[in-house]
Amino acid sequence: MENFTAYNPVRVHFGKDVCNELGTVAKNYGRKALLIYGGGSVKRNGIFDQVVAPLKEAGIEIVEFSGIRPNPRVGDVDRAVAVGIKENVDIVIALGGGSVIDSAKIISVCIPENLDGWKVMTRKQRPEKGLPLLAVLTLAATGTEMNMFSVLQNPELGLKIGFGTELMYPKHSFLDPTFTATVNKEYTAYGIVDLIAHSLENFFGTGHAPLSDRFVVSIVKEAIEVAPKLLNELDNYDHRARILWASTCALNGTTNYGRKSGDWAVHGLGHTLSLMFDTAHGATLSIVYPAWLRYIVQYVPERISHLGSELFGTIDVHQSIQKLEEFFSSTNSPIRLQQVGIGMDKKEEILNHWLDKKPSGMVYDIDEKGYQQLLDWMYGEF
Ligand code: NZQ
Ligand code: ZN
Repeated sequence: MENFTAYNPVRVHFGKDVCNELGTVAKNYGRKALLIYGGGSVKRNGIFDQVVAPLKEAGIEIVEFSGIRPNPRVGDVDRAVAVGIKENVDIVIALGGGSVIDSAKIISVCIPENLDGWKVMTRKQRPEKGLPLLAVLTLAATGTEMNMFSVLQNPELGLKIGFGTELMYPKHSFLDPTFTATVNKEYTAYGIVDLIAHSLENFFGTGHAPLSDRFVVSIVKEAIEVAPKLLNELDNYDHRARILWASTCALNGTTNYGRKSGDWAVHGLGHTLSLMFDTAHGATLSIVYPAWLRYIVQYVPERISHLGSELFGTIDVHQSIQKLEEFFSSTNSPIRLQQVGIGMDKKEEILNHWLDKKPSGMVYDIDEKGYQQLLDWMYGEF
């Protein structure tokens, strides 16, 4: 096992009605909150009112900032920072999925010293302070609620990148499975794909970490078992709760302790698709993951066999990958680029983008031939 530090300061409040405590908790951190949310789903499904009521009751003044988009843009973050500074807020509250929480993380570290969002993301400005961040999660997928990372895109520069600092751990995260009940079938499936992808990104990292491997297998098994039940009954509390906790555990450190790093090539390759075609994050992963596994058969066939035997009872590498692909398909997540409207005419454009930006893994490099091979498989050309 590699040396590691285990540290995770996020206080997670999990279960029905946990947001009733939101006001009492927020009061410990300040009086005036910048409340960040997305395109308005929280207003339509009533979650907004359930969150605002305890805050008001506790006397917290609220300044709203809405309109954070999926695949969040740094321009929106900078606009929110300006509002936060002008209004002199002392807390940031994120209400939404990964896009909202990731944006709120950067907003919370930019407000105190009036920093520039992209300079922080690219490490040109180093935040020394952060406003306390409280997260209310409405979509099970990214694990951002219990980690210190944010992923933002800069469409002008053609980049979607991640950044992390301990200042961006939420102080508290409120995870009420009932808040995720209105997520549609499509995004519910993407969330399941995402949590599996996070587990696997770590599994294919370096370092001998058998217990972390076992956590990976357990989390993926949990997702594979619950997925069909949940997708058939979207408002089932127990299924929602199980997927929610699985997604949190997939990227809160548990799957990585004892390794040097994960690989994360699949996320990098997928971010390109989100950037170029605004493809949903989870949809990029169900397309890229099987192709990438086929690519690394040459390096670690035994790891793929190990996973195949644990998850699907087969040690055959190609059958294992096929089974994972079939599972993604069974959730109605795309496994080929054409399924998200990216036709063969875009092949060269994607290849050129990859050759220019060189998305690659921390463990396995991808060369030009590799990119071509991956693309062929993602288009279903074997
Ligand atoms: O914008 P609103 O109206 O809120 O609607 C959202 C959005 O359209 C909707 N939604 C969220 N909660 C809902 C709901 N609709 C109905 N009922 C609810 N309860 O779902 C849509 C997608 O939301 P989004 O926040 O974009 O999804 P997700 O949570 O999957 O986040 C994806 C983003 O997180 C990044 C991704 O790259 C992507 O930008 N990631 C962040 C990570 C991290 N910080 O650790 C790791 C991940 O690998 C990932 O890269
Ligand atoms: Zn992800």
